[in-house]
Amino acid sequence: PRATFIDHAGESRTVEGAEGENLMRVAVLNDVPGIDADCGGECACATCHVFVDDAWLDKCGEPTELETSMLSFAATAQPNSRLACQIILTSALDGIVVETPVAQH
Ligand code: FES
Repeated sequence: PRATFIDHAGESRTVEGAEGENLMRVAVLNDVPGIDADCGGECACATCHVFVDDAWLDKCGEPTELETSMLSFAATAQPNSRLACQIILTSALDGIVVETPVAQH
């Protein structure tokens, strides 16, 4: 499945990820900037914060309680905020578009 990351300056990068891989890893493996992922995907740092395009938000499912509480530490959290390490790339999410916050650049 493919995923598109748009950085804070509006530059867009579309990369191919492995099915079942989380979105944070997909970004890191493809050298996409804007995802720090300090905790390595443990849902414990909130530096893989992304804004999910509204068209895709529902398809990502509900965040867990832990993710929601971690997101409250993200300075610029919005209703469409998610942690990229908690989004699993599946064929249902092929083409997903997320924006990376300026704080992670
Ligand atoms: Fe730390 Fe996602 S990588 S919360």
